[in-house]
Amino acid sequence: MHPMLSIAVKAARRAGNIINRGARELDLLTVTTKGPKDFVSEVDRQAEGAIVETLLDAYPDHAILAEEGTAKGANADAENVWIIDPLDGTTNFLHGFPQYCVSIALAHRGQVTQGVIYDPVRNDLFTTSRGRGAFLNERRIRVSRRQHLRDCLIGTGFPFRDGAYLETYLRMMKTMIEQTAGLRRPGAAALDLAYVAAGFYDGFWEVGLNPWDVAAGSLLVQESGGLIGDMGGEGNFLHGGQVIAANPRIFAQMVTALAPFRDELTRQRPPRPAHPSAG
Ligand code: IPD
Ligand code: CA
Ligand code: CA
Repeated sequence: MHPMLSIAVKAARRAGNIINRGARELDLLTVTTKGPKDFVSEVDRQAEGAIVETLLDAYPDHAILAEEGTAKGANADAENVWIIDPLDGTTNFLHGFPQYCVSIALAHRGQVTQGVIYDPVRNDLFTTSRGRGAFLNERRIRVSRRQHLRDCLIGTGFPFRDGAYLETYLRMMKTMIEQTAGLRRPGAAALDLAYVAAGFYDGFWEVGLNPWDVAAGSLLVQESGGLIGDMGGEGNFLHGGQVIAANPRIFAQMVTALAPFRDELTRQRPPRPAHPSAG
């Protein structure tokens, strides 16, 4: 395993232990609100603290882009940036709904080169290094082989916070319900991407994501033979907020199926600038 990946795994497991401990005493947690339907608990913050400490101990010169803002601004012009969601699926976690994960990626000069997604409920560890494949618990994973959208199980996430895109999204959902074998909305975008990489889903799409939801999962998808892009199928998926990911055949079919909504989405909220300070 690449040395940077093993440090990231160590960090993810430490965060996972904190999350599992928190899950046993949910009633005692202090929860605050960051915005509409946007909660953060002490578990998110402690998990992020443990991850950042582990990474910076090993790599003091690296920069950090983490959801809860730990070490914000440190080494801002570094070539290596760790992109971290310490707890993806916080709403699930707070309700005891067992679908959430830790997501850690390393971007080198803007390109993701290492990725870890850890599901502490199932003890599932998804790992990848650029050029070296994608793994679930050390076994090689690959995207599914389905060829027709009508046979596919597709994951998604819908905009539940500020209502942006909601009307458009509902029509996208209708299209996908009609054209696929089934839709799922489990509630942790990073894990959704890992599921595309493992072939549990044939594809996934969501609008309104942040780089820490997407970074590690994007490399898992690519290294398992899949494609990831924005709504146009192009490359601005890390900072642009819109993501389609699937096996190559299904990716093309999803881009086509969702094309009628593209302009509408862009008009409602222009893509974020492609810069790490975004999100
Ligand atoms: C959220 C989850 C959810 C997705 C939201 C994300 P959080 O992350 O990934 O599935 O629909 O867009 O913000 O806030 O639980 O880390
Ligand atoms: Ca997230
Ligand atoms: Ca989070």
